[in-house]
Amino acid sequence: MADKEKLSIEQILAAARNKDGGGAGAAPASEAGPAETPKPAAKAAAPAKPGKMSVADMLAAARSSDAGGEAAESAPAAPAEAKTAAPAKKPGQMSVAEMLAAARGDKSGGAAAAKPAPAKKPAAAKAAPAAKEPVAAKHTGPKDTTSILAAARAGATKPGPITKAEAAARAKEAGADPTKKKSAAPPMPTKPDYAKVAAPAASSSERRGFMVAATAIFAGTFFMTSSLAIGFSSLAVTMLLWVLGFARFMFPNILTEPPTKFKVGFPDEYAPGQVATKFKAQFGVWVVRYEYNGQPEIYALQSVCTHLGCTPNWLEGEQKFKCPCHGSGFYKDGINFEGPAPRPLERFAIRVADDGQLEVDKSRKFKEEVGQWKDPASYVSV
Ligand code: FES
Repeated sequence: MADKEKLSIEQILAAARNKDGGGAGAAPASEAGPAETPKPAAKAAAPAKPGKMSVADMLAAARSSDAGGEAAESAPAAPAEAKTAAPAKKPGQMSVAEMLAAARGDKSGGAAAAKPAPAKKPAAAKAAPAAKEPVAAKHTGPKDTTSILAAARAGATKPGPITKAEAAARAKEAGADPTKKKSAAPPMPTKPDYAKVAAPAASSSERRGFMVAATAIFAGTFFMTSSLAIGFSSLAVTMLLWVLGFARFMFPNILTEPPTKFKVGFPDEYAPGQVATKFKAQFGVWVVRYEYNGQPEIYALQSVCTHLGCTPNWLEGEQKFKCPCHGSGFYKDGINFEGPAPRPLERFAIRVADDGQLEVDKSRKFKEEVGQWKDPASYVSV
């Protein structure tokens, strides 16, 4: 008996599901384990020892609750014994068969099943219904692999998550279009009037912005180009000035003065009493044909005032040289007669050159106050 009670719960349940054979139910149960081969003597001895029923008896008692036929008549015998023996048992010593019988008794509502429940200890009551109801619910469908595959091929709903193809197939069966998206985008709201009116303004603003940007770019480019052109031109001019200045620096600083000797024409070209002023501007000289101490001469007077160095003018009407600065006056022969001038005008050296022309030499001067006008180099007799 000890070996028989070592059957697993699955074996017991498998044997219990085998409802085909009533009296033969003991045979499959015995096939579960060779050591559990039931014997009539042992089966008969089971009632004598409550709580030590064989597995076959337990299964038979369990089936009797469902069949309600002949097994129902034999089955109560065992629970009856168990019921009668229950008070004598210690709490926690109920067999599996008693637990199953108590559980099925609750389901069928029989008086036999209702009684053991309160009589048993709370621990046993907790173990029987709580542990076995989920097991019974779990095994309502096919239990082996072959049955599960057969049920799946037969079109049974696949439990658990499904693939996209399966979802599409289900949607197609339900009439929905699998190509369409589940959630369509909501329609856009209609554009308000102020937005419609503002659209052209934005376009015009964009055009104005573009024109302003283009103008700014063009102006910037032109300004940069002009600035570069002006800068390079200024640099080129500066470099040219530097080159010219350096070239001028390389040459000696020479004064270009007029020659000290120059020819003023032939003596016959001058009439008596004539004052030639045409050499005043270029050479600062008056060429005069006049008399000095009653002797006709041609001489050259320097056109510089003896007061402070101003340039007097020949006044043909007054026949005198007049200084515009302080009013000094000189006669035609150069003698001062009015104004602040302290002395007569000075003469340059003059001579008749080899070609017969009169030649003036400004490198030599003759002063009247010291008697130099008597020097023959200071005049040409005519
Ligand atoms: Fe000729 Fe003074 S400079 S009068």
